Amino acid sequence: MGHDQDPEDFRDISRREFIAASTLVSGAALAATADLEAAPASAAPEVACALTINKTPYDLKLEPRTTLLDLLREHLNLVGSKKGCDHGQCGACTVLVNGERVLSCLTLAVTCDAANITTIEGLATGDDLHPVQTAFLHNDGFQCGFCTPGQICSAVAMLEEARRGMPSAVTTDLKSSAHLTLTVDEVRERMAGNICRCGAYPNIIASVLAAASAGARA
Ligand code: FES
Ligand code: FES
Repeated sequence: MGHDQDPEDFRDISRREFIAASTLVSGAALAATADLEAAPASAAPEVACALTINKTPYDLKLEPRTTLLDLLREHLNLVGSKKGCDHGQCGACTVLVNGERVLSCLTLAVTCDAANITTIEGLATGDDLHPVQTAFLHNDGFQCGFCTPGQICSAVAMLEEARRGMPSAVTTDLKSSAHLTLTVDEVRERMAGNICRCGAYPNIIASVLAAASAGARA
């Protein structure tokens, strides 16, 4: 390097060198990713699993990593339960397992062996909607409807939790929580795991409160 070289040149060279080096590194990373994708995932032995879903018994052999949500949607074509985030953050996949609300995207299907599962498809009785479904209809508790199956399943189980006197983080009177009153704050807190991208929360809360006053049961 000569003493009379413009310092700008050094900056330019090092920038070019940097870009070239980055390109090589990115290329190597892409190649490694492609190798990983090409490598077949080793299949674990299938596990026998007997489930009752919406009153229908199923005897299944499942790859043990199959989530309950994928079992419902991909294997059994019960696509009412939605895959919003697949990470336990949105509640769109909520279903009932033995009457309790669970996030089916975080639940391995084989852990539900011998369980009774109810999805949004199983709430109605023939043409008669479940009272919570009716309340959502009458109160416009949805806009696009994507979150609605999860909201409704969650609300069905939540109303039962409240009926059993389970307190929430905003329940102030723990001594008489067996007779707790579902307020807007209670519903908001208890339904906090169900996100609505349309922001239909006021009508969702109104729907849940209407179902509560109608004495909806799971
Ligand atoms: Fe299960 Fe979002 S898809 S919580
Ligand atoms: Fe659209 Fe809730 S109604 S995401």
